[in-house]
Amino acid sequence: MINKIHFGKRLASARKSLGITQTELAEQLFVTPQAVSKWECGTALPDIEILLELSHIFKTTINNLLEEIDLISELTGKASSNDGITYFVPEQERSYNLSWAEDIIKHKWVKKNWYEAQKPNVFMDNVGKKIADEGGIILEIGAGPGGGFMPYILKSNPNSTIIVSDISPTVVREWKAFLDKTLDSPNIYYAAFDFCKMPFEDGSIDVISDGGGIGNAEGDKAAALKEAYRVLKPGGLLVTSTGYVNKETLTDIPKSAQDVLLQKRPDIFEDLYEDTFLAGFKKIDSVIDGCWYTDSDDSSIADLARSLGINLKFTSYIRYCRKES
Ligand SMILES: C[S@@+](CC[C@H](N)C(=O)[O-])C[C@H]1O[C@@H](n2cnc3c(N)ncnc32)[C@H](O)[C@@H]1O
Repeated sequence: MINKIHFGKRLASARKSLGITQTELAEQLFVTPQAVSKWECGTALPDIEILLELSHIFKTTINNLLEEIDLISELTGKASSNDGITYFVPEQERSYNLSWAEDIIKHKWVKKNWYEAQKPNVFMDNVGKKIADEGGIILEIGAGPGGGFMPYILKSNPNSTIIVSDISPTVVREWKAFLDKTLDSPNIYYAAFDFCKMPFEDGSIDVISDGGGIGNAEGDKAAALKEAYRVLKPGGLLVTSTGYVNKETLTDIPKSAQDVLLQKRPDIFEDLYEDTFLAGFKKIDSVIDGCWYTDSDDSSIADLARSLGINLKFTSYIRYCRKES
């Protein structure tokens, strides 16, 4: 299928990767800069001779320029919905999640987090670059309203091929609506699915990027790590980040509160190293990147900590886990 908007985005991104302006491209093609602008805005298509010329300039095929790729359909056999998102979970937000989803929209969290990530941040920019430099198909899981590592990956390379995903359809819709109007990138795809049961074939993904999704998983974190291992190509990379409460930091906390935490949220004491290893990853590099406290957070564990009158310290880390070739 030919989609003018999609063609326009591909053209703009190919032109920018050659470092030329619309006027310079127009001069090469003997057309006006306004014509190039119309093509890039998706309001018109060039004629066939110009398409041929463009395919030579950008060293690609006319098909690659024109044809809309549904990467997720190619990978899973499932076509996207009319809104351009592929749903492997119901399109309606889950009822227990409605107020969180409303807050994401009302407070424009996606937009705020995106612009926050555009500020210089040596550590995160470096992680984004490492992931973008791996190339291939990057799968951002549990993207959440922060987008995980995705904003930093796109900051490093806006042409990265990336699937933005979350179990929450609202999160995925918010990111699609925002990125569609913010970036020219033609290589971003959107899917809503449970990362404990990923809809991809074995060995089909180059990089899985998990900026705090698995650590906050609804469901079995060990199963999510096994799924990550399964869908990665041999030699593929999982970059995962989360935080945990080191039991030694609990000394100042009343025993009664410790007991409640151990009973209600034993998962916060897990650093997931063993589960990552048992999932199959034998080469795991962990980098401690700091710590955070529940008094400056709005997660469910932060609410629980507040209800117990305590401030919990989480140590956070990023892990680079390579699947063997
Ligand atoms: C608390 S958020 C934090 C991390 C998120 N990457 C961010 O930057 O905002 C965790 C996200 O993981 C998603 N999530 C939790 N369990 C999931 C699952 N089983 N499958 C897919 N996404 C999941 C949640 O919907 C949420 O958006």
